[in-house]
Amino acid sequence: MKKLFKSLAIASILGALMSPQALASSSEGYIPAKNYSFSFEGIFGTYDRAQLQRGFLVYKEVCSACHGLKRVRYRNLAEPGGPELTKAQAKAIAKEAEVTDGPNEEGEMFTRPGQLSDAFVSPYPNDEAAKAANGGALPPDLSLITKARSGWHGTLKSLFTYSLFNGSGGPEYVASLLTGYSHEAPNGEEKDGLSYNPYFPALWIAMPAPLSGDDVEYADGTKATVEQQAKDVAAFLTWAAEPKMEERKSLGLIVMLYLAVFSILLYLVKKAIWANVKH
Ligand code: HEC
Repeated sequence: MKKLFKSLAIASILGALMSPQALASSSEGYIPAKNYSFSFEGIFGTYDRAQLQRGFLVYKEVCSACHGLKRVRYRNLAEPGGPELTKAQAKAIAKEAEVTDGPNEEGEMFTRPGQLSDAFVSPYPNDEAAKAANGGALPPDLSLITKARSGWHGTLKSLFTYSLFNGSGGPEYVASLLTGYSHEAPNGEEKDGLSYNPYFPALWIAMPAPLSGDDVEYADGTKATVEQQAKDVAAFLTWAAEPKMEERKSLGLIVMLYLAVFSILLYLVKKAIWANVKH
């Protein structure tokens, strides 16, 4: 058992050291993600509904022009533990989407308005089309991006404290990346079709700065600065990647509580059973 733990520990340290982000962190100018704080960090953390709703608006108005979110369904927007829009709102959002369905009786594919049960419609029909429209770079589907980019890019600090108290690093990376375009490239260098962004491990990214401030108008009156929108959309994408987080955390707490009570009971039972036995 000890051996197993040891090899697991070694494997995870090696894995973190050899990740492309860690390797890239040695490249000059790279900045590890900022430690933004989010409401869903820590073992009691939950999503901030208003923030998820704002983040959804940013995704819909800005990011969805290039990025899909194919693992989320329109009905999820109205489910507990998420942005919790009303069913009517989610239905209206689904209706705006053009879903390819079919084949019909003639064997032809056709389009129809989206329904609650449909997955978010991607902006491009396939990866090739997406690449062709973005100068050869593929805008990744964002359904799992906060998980794919978790683990505090760059410096390997205490993974334990980070994941327990400071969050996984995924949403922090996304928020940092979106705010990172304000940095100037060293020596005023320019590259065709690429933007300088020190939070991107390769430093030069094919995504043009998506946010410039006031890209959306928040219904709750929050000021739509670049940083605010970046944090909101990062929170929304965290929910997209882990829609059942709140359920998982509350079940975990109940299980721990149950185990604690059960241990005390077992101890008392053991005392009672062995009370008259001399040893
Ligand atoms: C004009 C199209 C476009 C828009 C709009 C856009 N992106 Fe991107 N995005 C891209 C492209 C292209 C890439 C791939 C970049 C690369 O590989 O160099 C990318 C990459 C990314 C990545 C992955 C970076 C990595 O570590 O690999 C994230 C995260 C991301 N975009 C988030 C967003 C968010 C959030 C928004 C909305 C605020 C957004 N994007 C809006 C085109 C876009």
